Amino acid sequence: MIKVNQNIQNLKPSATLAINQKVVALREKGETIFHFGFGQSPFPIHQSIVNALKDNATNNHYLPTIGLDVLRNTIAKFLEKHQGIKAESDFIYIGPGSKELLYQTILILDSTFLIPKGSWVSYGPQINSKNGDYVILETSLKNNFKLTSDTLSAYCEANPNLQKALILNSPNNPTGAVYTDEELEQLAVVCRENDIIVLSDEIYSQINFNEDFSPSISKFYPEKTIVFGGLSKVFSAGGYRLGFMSLPKDLQFLHNTYRSMFSETFSAVSSPIQFAAIEAFKMNDDIKKQIKDCSAILKGVSQYIALKLKEVNIECTEPQGAFYMMIGFNNFKEQINTMGINTSTQLANYLLDNFSVALLPSSDFYFQKEELFFRLAFVDFNGEEVLRAYRNNSSIDANFIKKFCSNIFGGIDKIIKFIKHLS
Ligand SMILES: Cc1ncc(COP(=O)(O)O)c(C=O)c1O
Repeated sequence: MIKVNQNIQNLKPSATLAINQKVVALREKGETIFHFGFGQSPFPIHQSIVNALKDNATNNHYLPTIGLDVLRNTIAKFLEKHQGIKAESDFIYIGPGSKELLYQTILILDSTFLIPKGSWVSYGPQINSKNGDYVILETSLKNNFKLTSDTLSAYCEANPNLQKALILNSPNNPTGAVYTDEELEQLAVVCRENDIIVLSDEIYSQINFNEDFSPSISKFYPEKTIVFGGLSKVFSAGGYRLGFMSLPKDLQFLHNTYRSMFSETFSAVSSPIQFAAIEAFKMNDDIKKQIKDCSAILKGVSQYIALKLKEVNIECTEPQGAFYMMIGFNNFKEQINTMGINTSTQLANYLLDNFSVALLPSSDFYFQKEELFFRLAFVDFNGEEVLRAYRNNSSIDANFIKKFCSNIFGGIDKIIKFIKHLS
């Protein structure tokens, strides 16, 4: 009998993974699937970043464990200029994706992690893998599932003695919500009163539908906010696997701990990728324009979807950034329950089997399993073609979506058909 670490063995494949695998299998069989499940940037990586990668392809050296100095300096400048964050380059760390850096941070901190309902799938399993503790803080549709300072404060009052670490993600996966300065300032007050460490996941910062970048809680609570970011979303380079984190004053005593952890695990991020990342974070005007155009496209697509779904009384978060929104069928709960469907996972499977629509159940995002909310990712289109068309035309309406984002158009139509078939 081979013994296995039970914390790891108890990790279950998420419903997300199962739905995605089902979509792949159905597509391989030649079926048309309207895939609102997968959240990867559809846009091309900017040519200047690709060129930098090519130019450095022969570099076969191990680089410094925490990353190239010049890259860390470039990111410090990027954070200041393009994200409004003051960071010290000495305390910026490069890792193979922000996911790994979040994980190493979770391993290092002996805290109870606070996760707002409506957060990324991986935080919980990462904490479970070390047998750590986390609690879900309640949020509601009426403010786009954003954590309020009152909820945070009430939790802290009831649990005064724990060392707490809040995981805050804005723009948010799965809700598409962006916290305002005012909301972050109020949260910061509670965090300071209660000495909370904040893991601020800002991987979608510049994919913001109204501003160049999204507000950061580090502006109001610089001393204990760790900021995470990377190439994956903003620069459409998830497969490059490069992320960064910026360690604040009160946590800089962990510098050597991170260095040791990195050197004992992944050693250093791939050398050519680090050089390519320098080009990305320099953020030349053309890269900046591309990010702006891509955000405008995502805004147009998301607004079309929200409009169409709200017309038939489907609940919807207001999309403000990232690639996602949450939609809900709770107004139709009775009819759905009479079909023998009681959970979001059951309904996700039903929609895939009967309407060829793939949505992710909210139970993977820390909702109760009976809450009929789903994550809808609106990136199932050819980003290169859509970007070209947008640049020629610059208005995104139903005709544009029908022509260039036919899977989105068709999928929304299917969801509406499902609602009509209920009544
Ligand atoms: C909210 C959130 N945080 C972090 C990540 C991880 O990104 P990376 O590719 O930098 O590991 C993702 C990727 O899906 C994400 O959606």
